[in-house]
Amino acid sequence: GNGTRTRDGSSVMTPAGSRLALDGDDPTEEAPMSSTPTPAAASRAPITVPGVAARKVRDGAVPLVMVTAYDAPGARMASEAGVDLILVGDSLAMVVLGYDDTLQVTVDDLVHHTAAVARAKPHPLVVADLPWLAYHLSPEDTIRNAARLIRAGAGAVKLEGGRKRTRMVEALVDTEIPVMGHIGLTPQSVHAMGGFKVQAKSADAIRLLVDDAKALEHAGCFSIVLEGVPSEVAALVTEAVDVPTIGIGAGPDVDGQVLVYHDLLGIEDRMAPKFVRRYASLRQASVDAMAAYAADVRTGAFPGPEESYHLAADVAETLALYGSGA
Ligand code: KIV
Repeated sequence: GNGTRTRDGSSVMTPAGSRLALDGDDPTEEAPMSSTPTPAAASRAPITVPGVAARKVRDGAVPLVMVTAYDAPGARMASEAGVDLILVGDSLAMVVLGYDDTLQVTVDDLVHHTAAVARAKPHPLVVADLPWLAYHLSPEDTIRNAARLIRAGAGAVKLEGGRKRTRMVEALVDTEIPVMGHIGLTPQSVHAMGGFKVQAKSADAIRLLVDDAKALEHAGCFSIVLEGVPSEVAALVTEAVDVPTIGIGAGPDVDGQVLVYHDLLGIEDRMAPKFVRRYASLRQASVDAMAAYAADVRTGAFPGPEESYHLAADVAETLALYGSGA
């Protein structure tokens, strides 16, 4: 959840256009779908949990790049763009499923979308969010829920909270499930926080946040997301732990950054949170494209002859012999 504002994502997922191969068609008319990885993708070294855990900027590492994705095309694009980690975030609730907060998504929802991401066989490490109530009841329940995400194709899970959650983190790590922590503005705590608000602004809260980060590291987290905290605080936390911190709305002095797919690409542009930089305007581009399509259909400009199938000349001729009433 990326939550300094309310989102009710309106994106519509459309399945890739299915094309019918008609009998007798020229097979070259159909673009073959290839699942062969590009040579560049094939030659890249796998991104592993230990590889991520070692990426501290203070030790000379290049900052980690994480982006959310929720489906196979998104995962393929993130992979081709060369990001290090894909997060199947519970922001799914807000940017894809149209809810106002992240509390509405279930383990089933996350499993469904993690599997879609994993089917793209992306090069980045896939981290899946444990949704609210999936890791609060007991270690057994937490392990079972996390195992479903791992079996769906995630290489690690993420959960929100610090000292309160170390028992669950330890249980997961004991079961060989790598865990990414998430502290600061934790959107699953929206009601407890009284809204999506920047956290750790007082000396006491800052001390507690540093304690939370150390507790997560001690419990075995391989990295920690820091959301919605002042830059100076993020720098302090980053200095206090040996695992990498990945920031969102946490300034530059962290070991990596994460942005929500729909924010980065400008698919969701009704709100402009301060921490988002939009690298494209895909919402407007999509609206313009669909409006152009609608206009072409209405004027008859689409489809043209090149977008239509045709009978072989001899068959067309035979048909013509019978006239249009045949
Ligand atoms: O669910 C999510 O997208 C997240 C990131 C914004 C860190 O938790």
